Amino acid sequence: MKRRHVLKATAASLLLAHPVARAQMMNHQEMMGQHHRMGASHAMPAMGDGMRAHGSGRNLLPVDRMPSGLPLEALPKLVNQSLQAGVFKATIEAAPTTLTVAARKPTEFWLYNGQLPGPQIEVYEGDEVEITFINNLPETSTIHWHGMPVPSDQDGNPQNSVAPGAQRVYKFRLPEGSAGTYWYHPHPHGKTAMQVARGLAGTFVVKAKNDPLKDLPEQHWMISDLRLDQQAGIPPNTMMDWMDGREGQFVLINGQRDPAITVSTRTRIRVWNNCAARYLQLVVPGCQWQLLGTDGGLLEHAQPPTDTLFLAPAERVEVLLLAPADMQVELLSRYYDRSKMMVRDDPSDITLAHLSVKKEAPVLLPDQLRVFAELGLPVATKHVEFSEHEMPHDMGQGMSNSMMQNMFLVNGKSFEMDRVDLRSRVGDVEEWRIFNNSHMDHPFHVHGTQFMVTARESNGRKQLEPFKAWRDTVNLRPYETVTFLVKQDMPGLRMFHCHILEHEDLGMMANLLVE
Ligand code: C2O
Ligand code: CU
Ligand code: CU
Repeated sequence: MKRRHVLKATAASLLLAHPVARAQMMNHQEMMGQHHRMGASHAMPAMGDGMRAHGSGRNLLPVDRMPSGLPLEALPKLVNQSLQAGVFKATIEAAPTTLTVAARKPTEFWLYNGQLPGPQIEVYEGDEVEITFINNLPETSTIHWHGMPVPSDQDGNPQNSVAPGAQRVYKFRLPEGSAGTYWYHPHPHGKTAMQVARGLAGTFVVKAKNDPLKDLPEQHWMISDLRLDQQAGIPPNTMMDWMDGREGQFVLINGQRDPAITVSTRTRIRVWNNCAARYLQLVVPGCQWQLLGTDGGLLEHAQPPTDTLFLAPAERVEVLLLAPADMQVELLSRYYDRSKMMVRDDPSDITLAHLSVKKEAPVLLPDQLRVFAELGLPVATKHVEFSEHEMPHDMGQGMSNSMMQNMFLVNGKSFEMDRVDLRSRVGDVEEWRIFNNSHMDHPFHVHGTQFMVTARESNGRKQLEPFKAWRDTVNLRPYETVTFLVKQDMPGLRMFHCHILEHEDLGMMANLLVE
């Protein structure tokens, strides 16, 4: 792939490449067996795209039009401009950028520093981080530091958006104990899904000073998906995308389709699911995964080997890949049924990569990977309910924007920027119970901290979480309840929301005020 062949497009030329004239009405017959028309006469800006058709199979570029089989490239790192020890300083510019990645046709992406995926930021616990963000997109944006313990006013909240052409500095110090596998992405309200779909996302690794696994070689797999139409353009969301979350036909690792990866049984692999809505169930036939860490860093204990590695959208893990011998084998993502609306999925596996696995001497893991500082007993309990409005039986003129806006709810409400939904006190340990009162999966995410899942309850059966892990994202099956312990250490506004980005944009998000 010619990722290095970069040339900048102006915002104007980008917009011309997606003329409104190309939009068509949603063509629903294939899915519903009847005729429906979308009635979107007064579209709100962010949802305007959602009312148009695009993205049905025949409009898409066949998957084999993107080159594959090239050796996996490491994620390029953001260069530290600071000469001072313990300080990381750099600039990230978001801008329209033209790259040719498929069918020898140029694609107009929106990228961080012209790179797909965005540059990787790597720092140590205790470091001072100062990122100048330049927004050269034609609309507002922010950079959100997903999962990281940064002050609320530095966290790229939708309330602190950066205007087109403007810039701001994000500044924070990463505390001891924050080593983990994070990422960054835009978070402007109503526009997050399309900005990520156009390519805006990057990885962020915080390393520990005393890392028990520091001698192992590391490999990073950032998994994202991308949708391209026949012209290699990035089409706007369809109504089905707004309902179910958008999945691109290309599933990429570090921006590459089906790369060739050489990995050893001693390699510490960090895996990101940076897809807007795609669930991953990673399988390497004949091999097993050993879970070492989750979003917020290492577990207390390495887990027994498993065949399948599950990653809901926005989740990350650290793993070893165990093999009985040297092997040439595929990395697959098995179909996961997340009970989408109105769509029958293709249940076949997706090949993500061709692996050449080298069997080496087993890693001697310490009994304890980390000292897991317990949070203690909760002093407050919070209840969060995700719900969906019933899909109307007869859509008549189609769904209006207000119907879309009230489709996905948190505690019965759609997101409002200035409404405080829940309040917590700085330093209080709380027990949160999240109930998914709906028929489809939704990944829950909260900003500013990491939580420890204690139990999961489905169909009246409660299972205690078998191990201790720090997470900022957890999946909820339909009608499942997940209980976790959490503590916010800094005051300010924190979002919590479904991390299917379309659901977030439609208002499946709420404000927590920490005081
Ligand atoms: Cu990764 Cu509020 O999001
Ligand atoms: Cu986040
Ligand atoms: Cu959702």
